[in-house]
Amino acid sequence: MEERERIITLYNKQAKQYARLRKRKNGFDQEWRKELLAFARGNILEVSVGAGANFKFYPPDAVITGVDISPAMIEKAKEAAAETGIPAQFIVSALEELEFAPHSFDTIVSTLSICAYSDPVSVLQKMNSWCKKDGNILLMEHGQSSYKLLQWVQHAYDPLQYRFIGCHADRDMLQLVHRAGLEIIKCERKFMGIIYLIWAKPVQK
Ligand SMILES: C[S@@+](CC[C@H](N)C(=O)[O-])C[C@H]1O[C@@H](n2cnc3c(N)ncnc32)[C@H](O)[C@@H]1O
Repeated sequence: MEERERIITLYNKQAKQYARLRKRKNGFDQEWRKELLAFARGNILEVSVGAGANFKFYPPDAVITGVDISPAMIEKAKEAAAETGIPAQFIVSALEELEFAPHSFDTIVSTLSICAYSDPVSVLQKMNSWCKKDGNILLMEHGQSSYKLLQWVQHAYDPLQYRFIGCHADRDMLQLVHRAGLEIIKCERKFMGIIYLIWAKPVQK
């Protein structure tokens, strides 16, 4: 099976579980999503939207475009949009193959997705170009811990995590965002530094 097909199958299988997690009222991630997405507004692109975990945190006047490589995840995200009444359109596509006109969105959101791309810097650069000049790029990512011992453990189990879950455990998210050329306005690290909340602005010529 081709690698792309393998990844789609892996995430299709996880869609029901993501939909169940989305319905929780409590959970370690809920406060973080709420804190980050308080800055989401307008015409919003959510990359790798999954089962729509963020929909309940968007303002009621937002309009969402949700993209994901997994058709099963998109079906669950459609249910999340219907539950919240937020207007949304969905695209099944790999981010790497997606094109939008420059400056198309007021806000670009990625939660727990930069771990998954084969070339994360080029996806972040696309996000940079698709965001309006005065827009926001909001990221909640998991990656390399700020603790050395944990970094070593993450590095050791990264191949297994990629094989069985489809994402990487040990990426340095701040370094990737810097390499993509975004301007970081604020960054908070949670959960032993494994979770990165990043508020960024596009940098365009
Ligand atoms: C860890 S889940 C996160 C889902 C959601 N953003 C959330 O916060 O719950 C990663 C998501 O990325 C999607 N994905 C993985 N690789 C992708 C790619 N190359 N292009 C688009 N979506 C991708 C998966 O299908 C999955 O829904």
